[in-house]
Amino acid sequence: MAGGGGFIGSHLCKKLIDEGNMVYCLDNFITGNKNNIISLMDNPNFKLIEHDLSTPLDVIKDRIGEAHYLFHLASPASPNQKSERSYINFPIETLLVNSYGTHNLLLLAKEKNAKFLLASTSEVYGNPVLSPQPETYFGNVNPNGIRSVYDEGKRFSEAMTFAFHRKFGVDARIIRIFNTYGPFMQKDDGRVVTAFINQAISNLPMTIFGSGNQTRSFCYVEDMIEGIMKAMFTAGTDGEVINLGNPDERSILEIATMVKEMVGSQSEIVHETLPEDDPTKRKPDITKATNLLQWSPKVTLEEGLKKTIEHFRNV
Ligand SMILES: NC(=O)c1ccc[n+]([C@@H]2O[C@H](COP(=O)([O-])OP(=O)(O)OC[C@H]3O[C@@H](n4cnc5c(N)ncnc54)[C@H](O)[C@@H]3O)[C@@H](O)[C@H]2O)c1
Repeated sequence: MAGGGGFIGSHLCKKLIDEGNMVYCLDNFITGNKNNIISLMDNPNFKLIEHDLSTPLDVIKDRIGEAHYLFHLASPASPNQKSERSYINFPIETLLVNSYGTHNLLLLAKEKNAKFLLASTSEVYGNPVLSPQPETYFGNVNPNGIRSVYDEGKRFSEAMTFAFHRKFGVDARIIRIFNTYGPFMQKDDGRVVTAFINQAISNLPMTIFGSGNQTRSFCYVEDMIEGIMKAMFTAGTDGEVINLGNPDERSILEIATMVKEMVGSQSEIVHETLPEDDPTKRKPDITKATNLLQWSPKVTLEEGLKKTIEHFRNV
């Protein structure tokens, strides 16, 4: 698992180990955190390999031995420039891990004859003119704007994955993850749910960029992990692109108000300038995941926020 020390990757490592697998977690902790996987460190079925995926894997591949499944979740993922963990502050690293990094892992998949899963993103749809977004939509992306390092990085990563699939027959699938939240997000990652919850808990102003009428749909991490597992392990997913997310679309203002009420916070809601290329709408069409994987999210926004608030109160 590349990116196993991150938010989604650490949940996936735990799930895979719970189901009896041996997991090699490769991470350089550029945006992840060792605390996410501390509970696994003494587990004999877990091995941490600290390595930059953007550099060749020759030095580590013999340590892995056989590998049957390769999950590629390694990439900075937060768009908020104010966070040190944002891809906007790691522009070159983000482009490299989605190009060289993807290439390196695909070479390993080819050599080990392993199944490959790329964690792509709804950001490949850019600022969509179509809503909800089906997998067949090609997107509306600014190729050189501030967010392009991530959006175009992931688009390149998708192209590289399918080039290996077509040219070498690598058994590969791409999932496009829509906003996901839950315990073990980093408090300072600047993503909207973490920011709102932590501002509300500390009674600090809750920052909304723009009017707050822009929409997002949030998927609880437990549901996302189930979707990722099904995308990798269900027959017939080779060569497929699958949206994974929760279609329950809400405005940012509505989410801020919900979090404020659930925390019982005295915070005031303040507005700041909307960042460049911030999408106005985001809602997955998950018809394909429902039909192909028999998957749909189960956890409501209210339940998921409750569990996430509980987590952040404890850390
Ligand atoms: N969380 C979301 O809402 C969301 C939405 C869409 C897509 N995704 C994708 O899912 C994946 C996981 O996202 P996340 O939210 O867990 O982010 P995260 O930042 O918590 O996890 C990414 C992990 O990758 C590691 N990493 C980055 N570059 C690396 C490199 N060169 N070598 C080794 N490790 C490296 C980081 O240290 C981190 O542990 C990412 O690829 C992201 O683009 C996430």
